[in-house]
Amino acid sequence: MTETQFTPRVFSGIQPSGNLHLGNYLGALKRFVDMQGPEFQTVYCMVDLHAITVWQDPDRLREKTREVCAGFIAAGLNPEKSILFNQSQVPEHTQLAWIFNCIARIGWMQRMTQFKDKAGKNAQNASLGLFAYPALMAADILVYHATHVPVGEDQKQHLELTRDIAIKFNHDYGVDFFPVTEPVIGGPAPRVMNLRDGSRKMSSSDPSDMTRINMTDDADAIAKKIRKAKTDPDALPSEVDGLEDRPEARNLVNIYAALSDQTAAQVLAEVGGKQFGEFKPMLAELAVSKLSPISSEMARLMGEEAEIDQILARGAERARAIAAPILQQTYEIVGMVGAGRS
Ligand code: TYM
Repeated sequence: MTETQFTPRVFSGIQPSGNLHLGNYLGALKRFVDMQGPEFQTVYCMVDLHAITVWQDPDRLREKTREVCAGFIAAGLNPEKSILFNQSQVPEHTQLAWIFNCIARIGWMQRMTQFKDKAGKNAQNASLGLFAYPALMAADILVYHATHVPVGEDQKQHLELTRDIAIKFNHDYGVDFFPVTEPVIGGPAPRVMNLRDGSRKMSSSDPSDMTRINMTDDADAIAKKIRKAKTDPDALPSEVDGLEDRPEARNLVNIYAALSDQTAAQVLAEVGGKQFGEFKPMLAELAVSKLSPISSEMARLMGEEAEIDQILARGAERARAIAAPILQQTYEIVGMVGAGRS
């Protein structure tokens, strides 16, 4: 019943709650594409059940779920090679999440910085779902026995909690059943910052659209946002050390590096000494050349709603084929009568 060998399997998810932006792309999506290949089975999810932990308009949620799916495909995920689906079509996620609600401790949840940030001052009025969110996230990952989870840096604490849940479950039931998942946080831009304030991360919830580059922005919008991005008056340094205490400069260099598949050091070797007046147009040109093909393909796919829905339904079927037996084995371990009959 217990497994000790785990298939190398990647799982990750994106909330369909706002615009897909450059942070999602460089911290997550581009890296999802890089991991698609013979080394791993890749499973990627639009986490609609996570999105409703804060209020979502139903029609907009449907539209954004399809838009994220279009973004996945436009960025290079192949629905034959990767399993693409929306979370609510695979009920095993929430079934395992309940078990994990009984494993995770309230004290662990109270330490989650994202809950504190999102709940804000009025935490008593936040939904119970927002508080329990990291247990559902652990279930998303572990219901596939995923071994690798590519995410941006802001998800690190949630992945540590996923490891804690796996370890405590295995310990409490005396099994070696859930893998202790590897977070895959990396690349030159694991935390893309707000274009107007280098101390805050780029986010779809910021009220100002000028703080982020959306994956649906056209070339003019991208160029304008980069031109207006906050910088400092100094020239770019030739080495990475010179970016210390220059968060806005570091952010633009990291974005350039991630878009051009280089390290920040390689970029600075090329552009060190240049003023922003010269560097920003280079960055804008690079960003437009990498992002425009994605946004036009996204727009085309958004016109193919039936095709998107079919991809999600087929992906959900394939996902369930992996998740259902793992959930059944979990039920058996936990002592649920009737587990393993279906
Ligand atoms: P979400 O929807 O906020 O973000 C999706 C992915 O994009 C990354 N990301 C960023 N990376 C770099 N710079 C930024 N400014 C930036 N903003 C967002 C996130 O780190 C993430 O990888 N809880 C998750 C979704 C989730 C999930 C999962 C992820 C649910 N279940 C299981 C992995 C595995 C979230 O809210 O991501």
